[in-house]
Amino acid sequence: MARASIRLPPFLLLLAATCAAVANAQLSEDYYGSSCPAALLTIRTTVATAVLLDRRMGASLLRLYFHDCFVQASPQDLPLLFPWSSFNIGCDASVLLDDTPSFTGEKGAGPNAGSLRGFEVIDRIKLLLELICPGTVSCADILAVAARDAVVHLGGPSWTVLLGRRDATSASASLANSDLPGPNSNLNDLLAAFSKKGLSSTDMVALSGGHTIGRAQCQSYRNRIYADTDIDGTFAASLRGDCPQGGGNDGNLAPLDASSPDYFDNSYFSGLLTHMGLLHSDQALYDGGSTDGLVRSYASNNDQFGSDFAAAMVKLGNLGVLTGAYGEIRVNCRAVN
Ligand code: HEM
Repeated sequence: MARASIRLPPFLLLLAATCAAVANAQLSEDYYGSSCPAALLTIRTTVATAVLLDRRMGASLLRLYFHDCFVQASPQDLPLLFPWSSFNIGCDASVLLDDTPSFTGEKGAGPNAGSLRGFEVIDRIKLLLELICPGTVSCADILAVAARDAVVHLGGPSWTVLLGRRDATSASASLANSDLPGPNSNLNDLLAAFSKKGLSSTDMVALSGGHTIGRAQCQSYRNRIYADTDIDGTFAASLRGDCPQGGGNDGNLAPLDASSPDYFDNSYFSGLLTHMGLLHSDQALYDGGSTDGLVRSYASNNDQFGSDFAAAMVKLGNLGVLTGAYGEIRVNCRAVN
């Protein structure tokens, strides 16, 4: 099912970019204005309730959306040129699909298995929306709006989510494995992974600020606290008790932003300045490389971080999405119609 992305000659890239722009042009703020006027309120109130019951859920919904968008839409759904373009990105709800006899989905892929959360919240929203306006609101749009509402709910910036995405009819475990960056990535790995999706280094650093909320498991930061030298000694020592070097306790959690794990602010970046990034890939943003200056700016200017994060989320959400006749509106977010 997975198809490798191939570099195109410039004129075809231009054509592919035009197709992407056309797809974006079909998204609109008021897409459900007449077909499902209660859609946005339904998503907002369900997210608010979920976050009230479990504050970490806000972080989990944001990550679910990132992992959806970063993995390409299934080739069979795409406009002719997309499988061959370098815009292999797509907020198409592929991450929500369970495995079927015809494809192995993304849920079981390395970066997702035993770690992605929030599926039940999306199910709850979809159930309500199917009652109010059946077959109308896509799972991909639900994810995009839920991620925004989760960030706002935790004190972060807001942005306008353009709507009208459609849902993929397949998913790819192998693309999830190859395209989602891992916690031991260095700066070059991160820049390359985001650039492959049409996202700049500023987008990459701003979006990484999503780690101002949420938790990581011991297995994701074990290397960092035992092997890295650019980590604050007291910070590393404080984490070792719950995350033994020899293995075990793999699922024990630590906050990605120790100073305010449930509040969306710029303190993640301040933590990087004091070498308290939890993941190797976090500290890679401030480790003597080209992104150091931006990390310092975000650490000293919450508004700049907020507006760059919002802009990058909009970009992430609009590139290469399925619109018009492509894909479908799933009835159940976990299964193709
Ligand atoms: C830059 C490359 C990135 C890497 C290498 C990365 C890696 C990770 C890892 C390993 C975890 C912990 C998973 C676990 O241990 O269960 C995590 C959690 C998280 N990530 Fe990322 N991530 C990246 C970018 C992003 C982006 C762009 C966003 C959102 C815009 C994001 C949002 C989150 C959130 C909110 C959590 C916490 C989720 C929860 O508590 O349920 N990440 N990430």
